[in-house]
Amino acid sequence: MVTVSSPRRVSVLGSTGSVGCSTLDLVERHPERFRVVALAAGSNAASLAEQAIRTRAEFAAVADPTSWPALKAALAGTGIEAAAGADAVDEAARRDTDWTMAAIVGAAGLAPTLTAVRQGRVVALANKEALVCAGALFAAEARAAGATILPVDSEHNAIFQVFETERRAAIEKIILTASGGPFRTLSSAAMAAKTPEEAVAHPNWSMGLKISIDSATMMNKGLELIEAHHLFAMPEDRIDILVHPQSVVHSLVAYVDGSVLAQLGSPDMRIPIAYALAWPDRMMAPTPRLDLAALSQLTFEAPDPIRFPALRLARDALRAGGSAPVVLNAANEEAVTAFADRRIGFTEIASVVEAVLEMLPPSGVHDLQGVAAADHAARVTATGLIDRGLTGNVRAARVASAGAAD
Ligand SMILES: NC(=O)c1ccc[n+]([C@@H]2O[C@H](COP(=O)([O-])OP(=O)(O)OC[C@H]3O[C@@H](n4cnc5c(N)ncnc54)[C@H](OP(=O)(O)O)[C@@H]3O)[C@@H](O)[C@H]2O)c1
Repeated sequence: MVTVSSPRRVSVLGSTGSVGCSTLDLVERHPERFRVVALAAGSNAASLAEQAIRTRAEFAAVADPTSWPALKAALAGTGIEAAAGADAVDEAARRDTDWTMAAIVGAAGLAPTLTAVRQGRVVALANKEALVCAGALFAAEARAAGATILPVDSEHNAIFQVFETERRAAIEKIILTASGGPFRTLSSAAMAAKTPEEAVAHPNWSMGLKISIDSATMMNKGLELIEAHHLFAMPEDRIDILVHPQSVVHSLVAYVDGSVLAQLGSPDMRIPIAYALAWPDRMMAPTPRLDLAALSQLTFEAPDPIRFPALRLARDALRAGGSAPVVLNAANEEAVTAFADRRIGFTEIASVVEAVLEMLPPSGVHDLQGVAAADHAARVTATGLIDRGLTGNVRAARVASAGAAD
């Protein structure tokens, strides 16, 4: 039984990002239902302060200490408490709420999201990287604290809506849909020449930079595979991936009697966010309604793990377990940043991840310190390869690195 205040007290971690802004858009349309407690961002003090003033938040936290003077000045005289640094973001996650949106991008979201889970309330989880790195830890902490984790990723939210937990034994498999990204039909050679601007131009979704590039490499679907494994306690071989370019069917659950249940909707993140905000009820959201007649056709195709090796790497990392998913995620974050900065080419993102996974064999990870150590080792290894230009060929990178270490 979930007990909530009225209005429901909500915090948004990563409030200045794509998911964070969509969350506040919904919250602000229903002032009678929601009251904003805390907001947290990385470095964008101006946007954070503007949001805090607009929503009359109690507390605003910025992670980057160099953004503190700007935040402090912008909030002077407003009565809104503010602070900077990692501890401040953690404090935002600790504030007493009924509902917290975890929408910080990347592994940076891991510690504050875990703090929110430890408060034992409802956590709407957008930050998939946290679950990829520490899925088992999250599940254990949520159980211990009595927290409820609601998936916000559109695919996992779709599965959550049609997954009959009480009939789990009758579920054969879950099927994650993928748009295929902007390069779905291109050859590997054509993809190699693509720029960051072309990679972030997603055909259906408007999202942050990192997830947009992950969609183009299909690492996003690989991360979601690992996320689904943890959220729904499904073995890797019972999670399928299906390319569906229209992004209307957000995922499916197949039952033993041959029934397949799906959730459909326009590609607008405010739909899964509204579901999580109102859960266990539903709320009105100003999202485009589906017009299936106008769409006229929905198509599906098998993914191509040759042109999109990130899918294979993520599956292998999930099977290997231990530190492998942490290494996959950290190497990918570094490679995506290097691609966005034009230091490596598009297809080198997966090459870097593959090389780092080969160079750091899986080891046991039992706590946050273990996650942090594996994450650090992967970032150092990935940046070493990128800085030395050893990003095109996995075997050559391994041999050269072994030589350098001798
Ligand atoms: N966008 C989508 O449609 C979508 C869909 C499904 C899942 N997700 C997942 O949701 C998460 C957020 O994605 P997004 O697209 O919203 O990302 P985004 O637009 O890049 O926003 C990221 C947010 O995280 C904040 N941030 C970065 N580092 C931080 C730190 N160390 N401490 C506190 N805040 C920090 C950023 O603040 P600044 O603005 O100050 O940098 C910003 O508010 C990702 O894990 C993504 O995979 C996103």
